[in-house]
Order: sequence, then C-alpha cells, then structure tokens
Amino acid sequence: MKYYLGVDIGSATAKIVLLGSLDSEDSIVDYEIKETGPDGNKTARELIDNVLSRQKLSLKDIKEIVVTGYGRIRVDFSHNSKTEISCHAKGIYFLFPKVRTVIDIGGQDSKVIKVGKNGTVLDFVMNDKCAAGTGRFLEVMSKVLQVSLKDFGDIHLKAPDYVEITNICTVFAESEIITLISEGVSKEKIIKGINYSVAKRALSLAKRVGIEEEVVISGGVAKNMGVVKALEELIGVEIKVPSEPQIMGALGAALFAKEISQ
Ligand SMILES: Nc1ncnc2c1ncn2[C@@H]1O[C@H](COP(=O)(O)OP(=O)(O)OP(=O)(O)O)[C@@H](O)[C@H]1O
Ligand SMILES: [Mg+2]
Repeated sequence: MKYYLGVDIGSATAKIVLLGSLDSEDSIVDYEIKETGPDGNKTARELIDNVLSRQKLSLKDIKEIVVTGYGRIRVDFSHNSKTEISCHAKGIYFLFPKVRTVIDIGGQDSKVIKVGKNGTVLDFVMNDKCAAGTGRFLEVMSKVLQVSLKDFGDIHLKAPDYVEITNICTVFAESEIITLISEGVSKEKIIKGINYSVAKRALSLAKRVGIEEEVVISGGVAKNMGVVKALEELIGVEIKVPSEPQIMGALGAALFAKEISQ
C-alpha cells in the first residue's frame, strides 16, 4: 500500500486525510478533524502525528503531503499546496463522479464551484467578505440562542414553520434574534429561520455560476441537515451529502499528493 496525506487548514477546523493506494484503487484509510486554533501549522502537525501513530506508520511511509485551506501558506512540513477550490472539486469528484455543482459552506466563507465532466473546475464564486451565510453566522446565532449547532438540524426538521430573519448582516441579525426571543417567538421557529437565511445566501451565490445536477454539498455546515433541506427546497433539486462532508478539501489534497508523486 502507498500512502499520501492531504491537510486542509481552514479558518475554523483543520482536517487530515490519509489516502491509501493499492493496485491503483484509492481509499480513505484514516482522517481527523480538529479546531484550527491560533497556530494552524502546529495543529496540522498534531493531526499528522495522530494519524501516523494510529496507523502505526512514520513520515517515511508517506510518499507526498499536499496542504490546502486558508492556513496553507504558513506550514513548514510541505512545499506542495493547492487552492481550496481545486481540492474541494477533486475530493467530491472522487466520491461523486457525476457532480456538476459543488456548494462548500465552511466557517468563514462559502463557495460554489462549477465542475466539468472530468472533475475540472470550470468556474466558481466565493463569499469571503462577510460572515452572512457561513458557519460563523450560525455559531453566533447558536450562542445567542444557547442551543448547540449539533442540534440545529433535528430542531429544523421538527419545526412546522419558521420566522423570516430579515437582516443579512450578522450583527443586525443577532439583534433581530434577541428581539424575537424577547417577543416569545419559539427557538424552533427562529432556528429554522436562521438555517433558511444561510441557505438563501448559498442560493444567491449558486445562481451566479448556474446550478447543474448533480449538486453536492461540502464543509462543516453540511452537517446541519436543516441548511441542506432548506437549500434543496429553494434550489428545487436533490443535494447529495458525503458521509463526512467536512473532509472533502483534505481528500482532494491527498488525491493531488498522489498525482504529484507519480
Ligand atoms: N456537527 C455539526 N453540526 C452542525 N454544524 C457543524 C457541525 N460541525 C461543524 N459545523 C459547522 O461547520 C463550520 C466549520 O466548517 P468547516 O470545518 O468546513 O470550516 P473551515 O474549512 O475551517 O472554514 P473555511 O473553509 O471557511 O476556512 C462551523 O462554523 C459550524 O457552523
Ligand atoms: Mg474549508
């Protein structure tokens, strides 16, 4: 078995994927997700150590490492880096070869990528100017409501209806939610409204590149089934969710590592 590592140092979390290749069959051998914290390089090194010791491997067994994500510029353990856009497209194409549209909603930005028949990036749009429509927006609202983000999906699916959050700006939306709570509006309705607000931002981004099926979602926010369901309803097509949507960029980086070493 030949081994490759992909590391994605995001604004919220760092992710690692250990890819194993045997007789040209590639598979995910191991992975880990950890909060990035103040020192992304140190966190990434910890992830590498964890995965290697779990798999009883050493750095000598790794043919290549590729780094991606917001923190990729400051790493000292690899010279190979790739953009998040190309890594997300590659990772998702590996699992969903019919993909044409990738929606990635991370901690600090959201992006929509148009993917060609062979998995290449044809076009993309990105929102990295403002927290609206990102995981950060959801994190702020989760704190105000004192409800864990992990419960946002289940609460959304059970809530019969929702209250529209009219403010796009995170700071104004936070005040709006405080007012809604004081008016006695149920947390369920508010949470569903928050998920719709994030989904609407992703929809407006997606419209700019054009939505073509299959549509696949990645990033930590894809773990919130409320956002996924809201987006499915707004777009009007089925959205595929990988079993671990948060590691798609790291998977793409690991696949690039294999390409580089050949
Ligand atoms: N179990 C979960 N349930 C709901 N939401 C979650 C869960 N885990 C993570 N998230 C969401 O995922 C976000 C982080 O996503 P991700 O790890 O993809 O970001 P990132 O790659 O670090 O950020 P970026 O790509 O913007 O630099 C968090 O802000 C949170 O909103
Ligand atoms: Mg990311």
